[in-house]
Amino acid sequence: MIREVLKMGDPRLLEKSRPVEAFGTPQLRGLIADMRDTMAHLNGAGLAAPQIGVPLRVVIFGLTRNPRYPDAEEVPHTVLINPVITPLDDEMEEGWEGCLSVPGMRGVVPRFKRLRYTGFDESGKPIDRSVEGFHARVVQHECDHLDGILYPMRIRDMSKFGFAEVLFPDQELIDE
Ligand code: NI
Repeated sequence: MIREVLKMGDPRLLEKSRPVEAFGTPQLRGLIADMRDTMAHLNGAGLAAPQIGVPLRVVIFGLTRNPRYPDAEEVPHTVLINPVITPLDDEMEEGWEGCLSVPGMRGVVPRFKRLRYTGFDESGKPIDRSVEGFHARVVQHECDHLDGILYPMRIRDMSKFGFAEVLFPDQELIDE
């Protein structure tokens, strides 16, 4: 079921979400199905449970190579529960981000370039990956939602924050 995505200004987006304690339950599978439907409907690259008003540490993300977005790096479709992120070094990288909770906007956000993330899929199977670049960026963006952080809070140079239709008039939107 497609759910409403909360928009910046809603206090529920600023809360810290709590860990999932039971895997493989109908409730968890239903939540993830709704998140998938909602992300697909809005053409997003990622979605965190608190964005649909559920304060649990669940994120989904993924981007299939698409001729409409020739520059976008492919990211495997992933359900990540109770994630833990560990940067692999200190190197940061700036890049443009958008968010389904901040529709129509884009901003440049510094993120760790390389990281390891661990967590569980919806069945409770462990996930352990070391990634970099856009994949690492998407994971950091989604996991920030679980701690009540929206990407505009991480922008250092507010001159690099604006409306996508003005900044990138020829591009279609991919939001996170
Ligand atoms: Ni987002």
